[in-house]
Amino acid sequence: MCNHENKDCFDYVDSKMPRIPISLIVNEERIYKDVDPTMTLLQFLRKELKLFGTKEGCGVGECGACTILMDGDTVNSCLILAVEANGSEILTVEGLSKDGELSILQQEFIKDDGLQCGFCTPGMLMSARNLLDRNPDPTVEQIKEGIAGNFCRCTGYQPIIDSVLSAAKREREELK
Ligand code: FES
Ligand code: FES
Repeated sequence: MCNHENKDCFDYVDSKMPRIPISLIVNEERIYKDVDPTMTLLQFLRKELKLFGTKEGCGVGECGACTILMDGDTVNSCLILAVEANGSEILTVEGLSKDGELSILQQEFIKDDGLQCGFCTPGMLMSARNLLDRNPDPTVEQIKEGIAGNFCRCTGYQPIIDSVLSAAKREREELK
């Protein structure tokens, strides 16, 4: 159990400041909550909403593990306060699947071994989703740029790129 004396500890500590009401949409569901003004969006997702898919790696905006979509753009949720997300629309990795079925992108990550330990995978998926939403037929270079903010410590980048290429192809075929 962390006692918060370690400077590298990112555990949420309640500031005891007055709560601020926020309203936002998360994975198509309207949420109303009163939140600690010092709580990050990442902490809000994990602690308040129990959406544990979004991961905390560095906690300082460098690794991309906490990547989500906010109003259609990728953001590092560790760098945004929950109160700053008031009024926004959030998509997390949990929102990629529908009715219990994994999205094409998730299926292709599994098929092409786009994950090893899986810690970076939620962030990778969200960056890849954002890329394919903007560019349904990306080149390898464009995929590398699209996931440039996401570090994979298992270093399996080639299967990740292959997964995104396969998903893009399948998505284009399904749209025909
Ligand atoms: S945990 Fe947010 S960028 Fe690393
Ligand atoms: S699969 Fe382990 S960090 Fe990327």
